[in-house]
Amino acid sequence: MGGVQPRRHRGGGVRPAGLPPGLRRRRWLAGRLNRRLDPYPARPRLRRKRRSDGRGQGPRPSETGLYPRAAGRSGPSRLQRRRGRTRCDRRHYRSQRQPRTPGLTAQRIFITGGAGFIGSRLCKALRATGATVVAFDNLHPQVHGDGAAARLQEGLVIGDVRDRAALQTALEQARPDIVVHLAAETGTGQSADEPSRYCDVNVVGAANLIEAMRALETPPRRVVLAATRAVYGEGAYADTAGVLTAPPPRTVEAMDRGVFDLIGEDGRPLTPCPTPETLPPRPGSVYGSSKLMQEYLLQQSPAPWDHVILRLQNVYGPGQSLRNPYTGVLSIFCQQVMAGRTLNIFEDGEIYRDFIFVDDVVSAFVAACATDAAGGQIINIGDGRATSIREAAELILKELKSDRGLTISGDFRAGDVRYAVADTRKAHDLLGWSPQISFEQGVAALVAWARNEAEAL
Ligand SMILES: NC(=O)c1ccc[n+]([C@@H]2O[C@H](COP(=O)([O-])OP(=O)(O)OC[C@H]3O[C@@H](n4cnc5c(N)ncnc54)[C@H](O)[C@@H]3O)[C@@H](O)[C@H]2O)c1
Repeated sequence: MGGVQPRRHRGGGVRPAGLPPGLRRRRWLAGRLNRRLDPYPARPRLRRKRRSDGRGQGPRPSETGLYPRAAGRSGPSRLQRRRGRTRCDRRHYRSQRQPRTPGLTAQRIFITGGAGFIGSRLCKALRATGATVVAFDNLHPQVHGDGAAARLQEGLVIGDVRDRAALQTALEQARPDIVVHLAAETGTGQSADEPSRYCDVNVVGAANLIEAMRALETPPRRVVLAATRAVYGEGAYADTAGVLTAPPPRTVEAMDRGVFDLIGEDGRPLTPCPTPETLPPRPGSVYGSSKLMQEYLLQQSPAPWDHVILRLQNVYGPGQSLRNPYTGVLSIFCQQVMAGRTLNIFEDGEIYRDFIFVDDVVSAFVAACATDAAGGQIINIGDGRATSIREAAELILKELKSDRGLTISGDFRAGDVRYAVADTRKAHDLLGWSPQISFEQGVAALVAWARNEAEAL
């Protein structure tokens, strides 16, 4: 570490180093005197020494996420060696910790999109903490089909986020302490065909919500946004020098030639990395752009509340609409296999995703509502593990005991992302959150639910 090292003294306390001896002693004595006068002395703060090469100022490069982990120094740091444990050990300890979700008991929580896949489970989880929950949802037919009534739940207000007056009335009645904004149009492919609808619901809807919250006599104290990894576009890659970069979307022309991997400006292959929150956004779809605009609206509108932005990776699990052809690749696979179809795997099958089980996402939202330190933060929520679409399809075929198999077709969709995996360290550190459900367990739960749904139809 380039910082000043503390020295322990027999008399206790820390004597600052790096100053001329006379001044050092005067400051040390003054500190001791102050401590004698002050019954609750602040702990001495160690300041990093400024260096001419700029190191030691602000966070270390590995903390900014601007450099891939592989490019950083390997092995434990001097501090870690002194403490006798490594970063891997620390990650292990963290994964043992439970999320900090202290009393939401007396809280009133308003959830837009609360009848949806994530929202309906989140409502239940929050009610279980003792919170009073109101869901606001228009029961979008593309998501809920004609059986929308089946989704009717306690505390549901049917309304559209595009209807500012309806939002205002619902908020005035709910008087929420916390608002969770989930309502959205969610189909990446569909967003290219219907940009005005996507902007209306996602952008204007979020702006309406902000204005309606501002007009409340007592505005909420926190707003939690369901954001998406789509804001990263292709996400983080390292070039041959090990520098992290956010490449532009792949071209149709390259994919036509069967070139699916990303190539750097120097013509050499780029290496995919887990994407940190600090990577500059570069959405490759109207959906991603409209969701990024939601983030900007929250960040840039002066407001009395603080906000938490959770960038979700690929969420899957029981309850994800089997009838919506635009979202949820695993639900779509289940539905296709149960209909006796052969799965068509795009590109060369080596498209990677970070699949995260819905109940883990729900516990991340609960932690985001309850953790003070999350205020003002953008946090990736994912498993942090890369699973190829081919592997996922094979697991679903196995769980459904289907012999229909799959085809790796080489087909592709413009705007599709090749490798999408999150760096989830911030979620571990800030929320004390880590996923609890393995991909195998999650797919088994999804398949069991999808089977039941199909039988019930
Ligand atoms: N599921 C994922 O993989 C994923 C990944 C990243 C981000 N997200 C975000 O999480 C949120 C919830 O996603 P989900 O998977 O539960 O989707 P979902 O479609 O199941 O839920 C969205 C809910 O919003 C409602 N809704 C849609 N338009 C509305 C409108 N105009 N007014 C009021 N309600 C409306 C729908 O009826 C639905 O109940 C979305 O904001 C989405 O962008 C989801």
